Amino acid sequence: MANTEKTKSKFDLIYINSESEFLQNTWYVIARDDEIQQRLESRKILGTNILLYRDSEGHAVALDDACPHRKLPLSMGKLCGDTVQCGYHGLTFDASGKCISAPTQDRIPDTAVVRSYPIAERYGLLWVWMGEPQLADESKILQVEDYEDSAWGRTEGGVLECKCHYLLLLDNLLDPSHVAWVHQTSFASAGTTNVPLEMSETDDGVVVSRWINNIDPPPYYAPMLCFSGKVDRYQHYEARMPAVAVNIGTYTQAGLGGDDDNLPENAYRMRSYHFITPVDSNTTRYFWFQHYNTNISDQAVKQSLNDGARSAFEEDRVVLEAVHAGLNSHPRPTIDLRLDKGARDFRKKLDGLIRAEKLAVKQR
Ligand code: FES
Ligand SMILES: [Fe+2]
Repeated sequence: MANTEKTKSKFDLIYINSESEFLQNTWYVIARDDEIQQRLESRKILGTNILLYRDSEGHAVALDDACPHRKLPLSMGKLCGDTVQCGYHGLTFDASGKCISAPTQDRIPDTAVVRSYPIAERYGLLWVWMGEPQLADESKILQVEDYEDSAWGRTEGGVLECKCHYLLLLDNLLDPSHVAWVHQTSFASAGTTNVPLEMSETDDGVVVSRWINNIDPPPYYAPMLCFSGKVDRYQHYEARMPAVAVNIGTYTQAGLGGDDDNLPENAYRMRSYHFITPVDSNTTRYFWFQHYNTNISDQAVKQSLNDGARSAFEEDRVVLEAVHAGLNSHPRPTIDLRLDKGARDFRKKLDGLIRAEKLAVKQR
């Protein structure tokens, strides 16, 4: 046993099969805004089923998807105006979770309350706060640089359900090296296999990056460049607590890269925003969209970037689902490589936040 502990990889640090590994006091994307209309929908997040709908003014509502009487999912009931009627015995709740009608009795029990969750709309996405409601602060939602700036194009983005633990997606999004192996027909290019990675910590996350100089542009990016020939390529992979990643890809003509603060005017830049939502310990919903600075009004370009990203993320999904199954079916420990440092540092930082949050709850 002692020997097992000694050889245990730090990678396993918070890879635990329980539902307590999620940070609660934070915003997670629960759905794209167009998924939620004036009808009852259920979405699981952090192991909890949440009822979602829009009221008659279009405001999104998030309630526990369980009637307090016999726990029938309220999503199996009926939306009556802005209220929800349980499909078993008709208890009816308003958008705040307060019971407003209890058929067959005069008095509504004080305990007939459904928990409601703070919900916010930003960037075409619905964000929910699963922790203590009084701590929910919309200014803590990731600020997407230039979201309203018409000088930037934006893809429609998408959502993908992955049968794997959410931290495997964060690992992947802090790992530029996998591009050479997993995305050979899209993001990869010569030179991506062996250039070392640089790691650094930020206040709320980790950055893994590298410049790769004088290479052919990868197939996904080549049509977007305003210049021909060899390129210098910058990969910036950043993850922020607890489950957001921002990847920035920069391309210059060969010889003009190397200094991210002094790029030539015709440099190509794409920022990919990734929002990783733990459904439970074995399932993750993955949302994304991208910003880019060339061909911004060309609809065909926009569509091909969107389709290309989805098919590349499908490649990630296949690998990560198999990794998740492998980690669960083979005895630990795993081994670590140098390329894991960013992911390891991120997990360690997140583990600290989760522990602090649990401790604060215990001390109350
Ligand atoms: S289970 Fe909902 S009213 Fe009985
Ligand atoms: Fe990938």
